[in-house]
Amino acid sequence: MQTYLHGRDLIGDLDFSKEEVETILDVAFDLKRKRALNEPHAYLRDKVLAMLFFFSSTRTRGSFEAGIAQLGGHGAFIESRTTQISHGDTPKEIGEIFGRYFDGIAIRHVDWGVGNGYLNGVAKASRVPVLNMQCDIYHPFQCLADLMTIIEKKGRDLRRKKMVVSWAYAASYQKPMSVPQSLVLQMPRFGMDVVLAHPPEFKLMPEIMEMAREQARKFGAGFDVTDDMEAAFKDADIIYAKSWGAMVHTPDAEEGARIIKKYEHWITDERKMALAKSDAIYMHPLPADRNIEVTDGVMDGPQSVVYDEAENRLHAQKAVMALTM
Ligand code: CP
Repeated sequence: MQTYLHGRDLIGDLDFSKEEVETILDVAFDLKRKRALNEPHAYLRDKVLAMLFFFSSTRTRGSFEAGIAQLGGHGAFIESRTTQISHGDTPKEIGEIFGRYFDGIAIRHVDWGVGNGYLNGVAKASRVPVLNMQCDIYHPFQCLADLMTIIEKKGRDLRRKKMVVSWAYAASYQKPMSVPQSLVLQMPRFGMDVVLAHPPEFKLMPEIMEMAREQARKFGAGFDVTDDMEAAFKDADIIYAKSWGAMVHTPDAEEGARIIKKYEHWITDERKMALAKSDAIYMHPLPADRNIEVTDGVMDGPQSVVYDEAENRLHAQKAVMALTM
């Protein structure tokens, strides 16, 4: 068990080894149990987390803010537009200065081609851990919560479980591709056979795909790609279907929006869910476009675990904060 994570950043999913992720999961389950029993667990008394947001959030803000408070610390919510960042504060200034005020710096910056570089720029200048609350490339805390939820529903031995990570139609906006990228990197390390399904224009970043293939090879798991949503769903144990944008295919947002419209039939509905195993679970990080991306029947149905998944954000994040800060 690798326990020395103090001072470490979590920006990309592979920043922590599989053994270190297992430590995080152990601590997360323990913290979940302690909260259920109302047992005090103020491991971060007097510590303060900066929570810098360049993009909106429901779950990430709520769970980080509640989590640091439950650990005995405080979360400072900072909306980037209320800072001097647009007037010249660079990532170096934020890392140097916030690193002296705070005990951890959590950042959400999902702008395509910008977010991940920003987080790494802050981390380079910071003396305290930088935690990725979602960037354009990764959403590691969502992925840890997802893994925790899968273990709760399917058990610790996930070898040969078929997990489908599928694109889904959504009209609201071109969503980041960070969730599917984190999933294809992390889940093969836990033995799941991952099938990535998307229309041809919704490829993930080539370097992420190569890293995912390497993880699958290293951990003896399957990793396949298809453009057939229904074929992918067949006999699956876990269905994780969400929308993302066509940013790898085209940098033009209007063209991306036009392309999305071709694939309205990529909705998760009861008929498609019936192709999966009868005890398959349906997952989504939320927010979802209801009855566009997924039907109410699936989202609110017996196979859906979306609220347990959202809850586990809290426990997984508390584990990482307690271990790193
Ligand atoms: N899943 C997720 O990150 O939710 P928010 O965008 O509401 O934080």
